[in-house]
Amino acid sequence: MAFFKWVSFFITMYLLMPKPISSIISLSPEELAQTPVNFLDLARKPEVFDWMVGIRRKLHENPELSFEEFETSKFIRAELDQMGIPYTYPIAVTGIVGYIGTGGPPFVAIRADMDALAVQELVEWEHKSKIPGKMHACGHDAHVAMLLGAAKMLQELRHKLLGTVVLLFQPAEEGWGGAKKMVDAGVLENVEAIFGLHVSPSYPIGTVASRPGPLTAGSGRFGAVISGKGGHAAIPQQSVDPIIAASNIIVSLQHLVSREADPLDSQVVTVTKFQGGGAFNVIPDSVSIGGTFRALSKESFAQLKQRIEEVITMQAGVQRCNATVTFNDNDKPF
Ligand SMILES: *[C@@H]1O[C@H](CO)[C@@H](O)[C@H](O)[C@H]1NC(C)=O
Ligand SMILES: [Zn+2]
Repeated sequence: MAFFKWVSFFITMYLLMPKPISSIISLSPEELAQTPVNFLDLARKPEVFDWMVGIRRKLHENPELSFEEFETSKFIRAELDQMGIPYTYPIAVTGIVGYIGTGGPPFVAIRADMDALAVQELVEWEHKSKIPGKMHACGHDAHVAMLLGAAKMLQELRHKLLGTVVLLFQPAEEGWGGAKKMVDAGVLENVEAIFGLHVSPSYPIGTVASRPGPLTAGSGRFGAVISGKGGHAAIPQQSVDPIIAASNIIVSLQHLVSREADPLDSQVVTVTKFQGGGAFNVIPDSVSIGGTFRALSKESFAQLKQRIEEVITMQAGVQRCNATVTFNDNDKPF
C-alpha cells in the first residue's frame, strides 16, 4: 500500500514558471557550467553525505504520523539552528519554512514532507522503526534528509544567491491535506517556482526521473448511503432492496471511466467499501458504499465527481431507493 501512496497522493510537485538559474544565482558562465558537478561533489563529501545518511536513519527509527511530527520538526529546527538558517515555525501545526539568501525576490521553494505511515516495519535491521505500528514506509525520512542536505549546500553558497531559497518542511502528506494547510498559511505567496520530488523504488539508485505536464493524479473520496426499506428476505415485494440498488450503482460507476473518459486522459474510479445487512434472512434498510476517484486534470476531476453523484442518485432511483452522496473535504486520510 505504501508504495502506491506516493504515486497517488503527491500532488504538490509542480513547477511554476521556472526562471533560468542564471537569474537567481550570481555565477560566471564557466561557474554555471560547473554548478551541477560542484553540487554533486559537495553532496558526496562525507560531511554532507554521511550526515544526510545519519539524519535519514535517525528519522527512520522515529516515525511520526500526520500532524504529529513534533519531534521530527524539533529535530529539523535544531539542524537549521546549527546551520544558522532562519525559519518560521509553526506553520500548519508542525511545518517549518526556512530561508537562505538575500531575503528578497525572486523566491524559489524546495519542499519535503515529514510524516510516516501507520504500518508495521517487518524488516529486521539496525535502524528499524522503534515505534510499533509506525514506519517511514513512504520515504519521507529520505525527503527530509535530502532537503536538509540541499539546505546545507545552499547555505554555503548563500552569498552567491541573488534571491531567496525557501525551504518548506510540510506535515501530513498522507492524505490529511498538509500541503493545502501550508498553502493556506501563505507559504507560496511570492514564490515563483517550487521543486519537490518523491523517492521511487521503480528506478535504479542515482536516477532522477520526470516528464512535462502532470505526473500524479488528484485524488478524491466519495461515500454514499443507499436507502430502501428493510424487510424479510422471503417477502421481497414488501421491501425496497438497497443491496440490489447498490450493486447496480457499483456496476454503473465502473462504466464512467470505460465509456465516458478519454482513453488518453487517465482516470480511476474504485469502489472500496460496501457495507450493509448482516443476516441471512433480512433485507437491510440501507447500504453504504464508498471509494476513490482520481484524474490528471482539474476538468476531468470535476466531471468525474459530477457524474459519480449523478450515477449514484439516478441509479438508486431505478430500484426505488434514495441515495445521499458525500465527497471528502480533504481533512481526513484517504
Ligand atoms: C425517498 O425519498 C422520498 C422523498 O423524500 C420519499 O417519499 C421516499 O419514501 C423515499 N424512499 C425510500 C425508499 O426511502
Ligand atoms: Zn510519500
